Amino acid sequence: MTRKRVSSLVASLSLDEKLRLLHGATDPDDSSVGYVPPIPRVGIPALRMVDGPMGVRAVGGSATAFPASVALAATWNPRLAREQGASMAREARAHGQNVLLAPGTNVVRVPHCGRNFEYYSEDPHLSARFAAASVRGIQSEDVVATVKHYVANNQETNRYRVSAAVSERALREIYLPAFRAAVEEADVGAVMTAYNRVNGTHMSDHRPLLRDVLKDEFGFDGFVMSDWWGTESSVGAARAGLDVEMPGVTFEERATAERLPEDVDPADVEFPETLPDMHEGGLFGEPLRDAIESGAVDESVVDGKVRRVLETMARFGLLGADSDGGRRGGELDTPRHRQLARRIAVEGTVLLKNEGALPLDEAAAVALVGPNADAAKLGGGGSSEVTPVARTSPVDGLRERAAECRFERGVPRITESSLFDAFGAGDGGESTADADDADDDASLDAALEAAAEADCAVVVVQDDTTESEDRDDLRLPGRQDELVSAVADAADRTVVVLRTGGPVQLPWVDEVDAVLETWYAGQAEGEALAAVLYGDADPGGRLPLTFGRRADDYPTAAPERFPGANDEVDYSEGVFVGYRYFDREDIAPLFPFGHGRSYASFEYGESSVERDGDEVTVTVPVRNVGNRPGKEVVQVYVRDEDPPVPRPPRELKGFETVRLDPGERRRASVTLDRDAFAYYDQDEGWVVSEGRFTLLVGRSAREIRDRVSVALG
Ligand code: BGC
Repeated sequence: MTRKRVSSLVASLSLDEKLRLLHGATDPDDSSVGYVPPIPRVGIPALRMVDGPMGVRAVGGSATAFPASVALAATWNPRLAREQGASMAREARAHGQNVLLAPGTNVVRVPHCGRNFEYYSEDPHLSARFAAASVRGIQSEDVVATVKHYVANNQETNRYRVSAAVSERALREIYLPAFRAAVEEADVGAVMTAYNRVNGTHMSDHRPLLRDVLKDEFGFDGFVMSDWWGTESSVGAARAGLDVEMPGVTFEERATAERLPEDVDPADVEFPETLPDMHEGGLFGEPLRDAIESGAVDESVVDGKVRRVLETMARFGLLGADSDGGRRGGELDTPRHRQLARRIAVEGTVLLKNEGALPLDEAAAVALVGPNADAAKLGGGGSSEVTPVARTSPVDGLRERAAECRFERGVPRITESSLFDAFGAGDGGESTADADDADDDASLDAALEAAAEADCAVVVVQDDTTESEDRDDLRLPGRQDELVSAVADAADRTVVVLRTGGPVQLPWVDEVDAVLETWYAGQAEGEALAAVLYGDADPGGRLPLTFGRRADDYPTAAPERFPGANDEVDYSEGVFVGYRYFDREDIAPLFPFGHGRSYASFEYGESSVERDGDEVTVTVPVRNVGNRPGKEVVQVYVRDEDPPVPRPPRELKGFETVRLDPGERRRASVTLDRDAFAYYDQDEGWVVSEGRFTLLVGRSAREIRDRVSVALG
């Protein structure tokens, strides 16, 4: 449908009908997380929205549970994000849905953040590559992608009130690039605003960031929706550029979708501080009509919003005589989706340390120890929870692959948070109640005996992170640190498998032989873990965030920077987020950004540089000098040698993944455009300083293999 026809469609709608398109309603099928009702009179179908980003959360339905977004980013392989996006979209369609509430692309600023697992990285370039790829994948299957949460939603503590006091430079250089890439490179159909405020204004009401930056400057022409119950006002939000209020109805009105126990009256539910006030809804309904009638909001403003919604629908084939309203079916839990979940889990596994313990010997007797190792770690708590059709735990995976495998829990199970516990309804998966029953069989002695008798002990440990709460500290919960040390003492060889949503402290790291980070590996965890442990596959992952030695080493250690005070959090570290801070302060991380080992070994040759106008291409010869096939991620960091303003000592601006057989040699090429050298100046905008830059070619932010110099002017 052409723009012109959309305009005449808008003109044919009554004010009532227009307002119906600007806020959600109760879903009669009870399958969507968000539902904008249809207008059958003129052939407008419903918008049906479901959560991602790690799989489809269709209410009450199952779907492929992919690894967490942080694991996806750890692959450093954006093609996988594209494939995962396309697969999620096919599954959304199979559930009759046409909008995916994914990807989440906030920058990991605070290592404690409960939602880090749903995001990609502490680095804006890596986040941007994955955001764009994911959006392209989702939209390639004619499902609208929603990039979220715009912007500076970097903590869960006090998320509805907190204001990020952040400089324009930090916004431009760190927090906005992934959103910009989703818009400018991938033409994303929808953007979801964040709950928090930025520099004092709620994001739903933030005219400079919504209208001026997102729409006018980046050229976003889709629609902006609020986060759930995250619309602050009617008039303010309408004028600022919010297009659609979600979910647009009160908790009471959509209580069935919340799967409340029968004896709970939705009107009586009191929400904890960690949840929004869901007794309010419909700000873009009656109150907006009143505002139009009183003249506070011009009806043309409403028309503009409706036009955005309908143009997006038209773009995705949801309008017009030959449209099926997005109900053309899809694909659910097919072999290719299952295999992709497994592949991402393998490629996202980061081998942090290996002193000869891995790969495991085929004949090895394995003691598998860990409080929750008999359940797959699907994800963290919250709106991203997915219920898969099938899942394999580490115990399943190892029992299938190992010559001999004894499982012992060792210490009591770690409770896993679910957002839905907050009002009494679980996700129907492996619940905490089952977990408590299982504690009876936790015996440290039995675990130590198993470890002592085995050739190798594999200890699976985890954190517990969830939307709406941040972690109190970066330690592994429960008695897991004690468990690892005791097993390391008892066993000949100890391999630790981390299942965490972000960095954790590893006080026992020197006592163990190998450490793998598998994040939240999703439904194929067990198979993927066995494949990596036995070397059937190379652990292909590299860290998308820094593992510091101590919580105090991170830039957000000061309380005013996290969790903030008086509803304000001070982003005074500016652009020095993640490794940019560790580098500036010269703090040695435990494992640096970009780090990850392979079972192969790689030799780097001398890099060469070619200039073509403003573009600089670095070419790096890499050879596999090991005796196994492996994957190497060649990373290029830029350093401004004489910056007029303080700049990070190195910033990732490009990377390329190469796969090499033993003895094989290839060239990795990374092209940097002018933007790769620029910083943001409040008055002048993007500036490239005249002078010398060094390109650092490495295996991580700290393992630099070569340097080349370029002069720009
Ligand atoms: C989350 C969003 C999610 C929405 C709908 C909110 O709590 O912040 O990421 O898409 O709920 O479930």
